Amino acid sequence: MLILPERGCILCLTAVLASCSPNEGKYRIGVSQCSADIWRDKQNAELKMGAYFHDNVELKFASAYDSDERQVQQIDSLVDSGIDLLIVAPNQVATISPAIDRAYDKGIPVIVFERKTSSQKFTAFMSADNYEMGRMMGEYIVSRLGGQGQVLEITGLEGSSPAIERHNGFMDALKGRAGIKVAGSLQGDWTEPTAYERTKQWLSENKDIRVDLVFGSNDRTAMGARHAFEEAGVDGAEIPLFCGIDGLPGKNGGIQLVRDSLLDASYIYPTHGDCLLQLAVEILDGKPYPKETRLMSALVTHDNARVLLMESEEIMRQSQHVEQLHQMASSYLHELDTQRVVNWLALGIIVLLIVVIVLFYLYHLRKVAIQRERVVSTLWNMEKEPTPDLSPKKSESLFITSFREVVERRMEECELSVDDLAADMNLSRVQLYRKVKADTGSSPVELLRTARLTRAYQLLLTTDKSVSEVAYAVGFTAPSYFTKCFKDEFGMVPGDVRKK
Ligand code: FRU
Repeated sequence: MLILPERGCILCLTAVLASCSPNEGKYRIGVSQCSADIWRDKQNAELKMGAYFHDNVELKFASAYDSDERQVQQIDSLVDSGIDLLIVAPNQVATISPAIDRAYDKGIPVIVFERKTSSQKFTAFMSADNYEMGRMMGEYIVSRLGGQGQVLEITGLEGSSPAIERHNGFMDALKGRAGIKVAGSLQGDWTEPTAYERTKQWLSENKDIRVDLVFGSNDRTAMGARHAFEEAGVDGAEIPLFCGIDGLPGKNGGIQLVRDSLLDASYIYPTHGDCLLQLAVEILDGKPYPKETRLMSALVTHDNARVLLMESEEIMRQSQHVEQLHQMASSYLHELDTQRVVNWLALGIIVLLIVVIVLFYLYHLRKVAIQRERVVSTLWNMEKEPTPDLSPKKSESLFITSFREVVERRMEECELSVDDLAADMNLSRVQLYRKVKADTGSSPVELLRTARLTRAYQLLLTTDKSVSEVAYAVGFTAPSYFTKCFKDEFGMVPGDVRKK
């Protein structure tokens, strides 16, 4: 009986504390990135920033470091971990599709961004137009070379959709431009080291081919090629112009490279992680959302690089402020959370204490009720027999019967001691104790006290004597001690007998 309310209380407390759990009711969004580089870093930072505006979003990032196999595994384990939505940039078009399909078939909404899948199993797609960027870059290059010149192209990762589309757009722009020749088209993989190695190899095999401009499928590729040309051009040969795509802001980003004339031009390939997150939340909220979102992009040349860099630096400065504000706010919220848990704990302890006190009180009431019952039944017997406790009982030995008579006769003597009682019974004190204890389970002193108190109860009920008079009448020397013993025996003070 005692345990149940306590257990209930602990359960309530646990439930209350569990309701404070930070992951409760959150949208878990898995982000599967094909690569890890400054472009992805920027996008991930924007996704996180976007999540600051929703207190119910939890992001889980995974990067496949350009490995199809790893990305497939990562998507599967994100799905197994119970994500509510998947954002994915597939490394290659066909290889990642089965994993994306598995997620989609499990009912998980999928946003494919920036790189395409070969399947139609996705909820929404967001990207800039890679074909258009390749084409616009081709147009720019034609005009930059005045319609005459030799171009070396280094493509992105084979089988990835931006690589294919940028190449197609670029080639379409060159169609019908007889003065522009493609000296070579090298297979890159978006990384600077690969571009460097392939270009170096190509240069060693094509020493007599003059190149006026290199188009790298992204800025890192263009810079890899540039290093190879710089290295090869130790004899003072003029190095070509280099164009890429990405146009990132910040240190060593494409915009700065154009401003510093290391690249001739770049094309902004927008990251827009915050928009991506907004789209994810709209889908999860069940709001209407666009199936396809085209992101705007723009050419970066020496003419606008300085301004673009200044603007992007300003934006980055503001983002850093937002980040600082967010950190301050989240540490404040963390403190609040801790405070909340402490409050709940304190409340729980108070509730627990109240329950214990109530239970203790109930237990006490029950004990008193039992004692009362005992008194009532004693009195009931008293009415039938004037000296119930001390009168001879059939089952009692003759010895106890005569001991009760002695007690009954002498209990009024306040000086009465066990020695006196023993002498009256012609026994030693020890003999008396042993016999009484063996026959009744109580000591002589206990029997004497019970007899005195029972007589006192009777006197309170049947005479007008005051409590003190009754105390003295049954052999107590101090009324206060009498009251204490009476309360221990009957669970009430002597005055209560009269009230009854
Ligand atoms: C970043 C990146 C960019 C490129 C894009 C193509 O991982 O390699 O440099 O423009 O991916 O998907």
